[in-house]
Amino acid sequence: MPATDGAPTKLNLGCGWDHRDGYLNVDFQDVHEPDLVADVRDLSMLESGAYTEIVAQDVLEHLERTDTPTALTEWARLLEVGGKLILRVPDVIGVARLLSAMPYVETHQVLLQNLFGTQAYTGDYHHAGFTELSLRWALHEAGFVVEELVRVDDWMMDAVAVKVDSIGAFEPGDLPYLSLANARPQGAGAEPTPLDKVAATVSGALPGSIRDRARAAWHPARRKLVERGVL
Ligand SMILES: C[S@@+](CC[C@H](N)C(=O)[O-])C[C@H]1O[C@@H](n2cnc3c(N)ncnc32)[C@H](O)[C@@H]1O
Repeated sequence: MPATDGAPTKLNLGCGWDHRDGYLNVDFQDVHEPDLVADVRDLSMLESGAYTEIVAQDVLEHLERTDTPTALTEWARLLEVGGKLILRVPDVIGVARLLSAMPYVETHQVLLQNLFGTQAYTGDYHHAGFTELSLRWALHEAGFVVEELVRVDDWMMDAVAVKVDSIGAFEPGDLPYLSLANARPQGAGAEPTPLDKVAATVSGALPGSIRDRARAAWHPARRKLVERGVL
């Protein structure tokens, strides 16, 4: 049962600096000043079934790959039946599509950083990546039904999954994001998003000289992709 004493019934796990009002913001690094300093793989101090929503944005890839089921099972424990899990993770095939379409060193440096993390400080390493199939399977195994799954900015996936009290057989569905050839996302309601956003958000973490070259390379690279009908 969700709490009725005014305590948050929503969790923002691995919150970093993304503190959200109305959520219990959780991170294992106290430098982020979360409401609760804890490892998201073990939240045994929190009550089972007490939460209506869990957000974990850009978090699962920071856990070791074999900890994906541990974390998802723990998060399923915390949600009430019908509660929602909202995830964002890197999409390995999305990154591969961009790599294969853009033979530019600087662009590859940006995209490989997206995949493996900046590695600029302890904790900013990625230990896992996902495909639409592997994410759907992991969610199913932890007792979730996927309500929505879309590719974001060509290299990430956003998923909304619902905790159910009894899970049926695994049905992966059409899996539009498995194809390297698909130029555009084909999931229901998916909007193509400009690649420029990737350069703008990620290249900020690159050393200055590489960043400048990456930015200089980005626009001609994108123009070529538009001309070739890839974007
Ligand atoms: C890329 S940041 C994402 C921050 C935030 N969710 C956002 O979208 O801006 C990943 C966060 O996950 C946290 N994190 C990584 N592993 C964790 C763990 N095992 N337990 C709790 N937090 C963890 C890191 O400290 C970091 O703040």
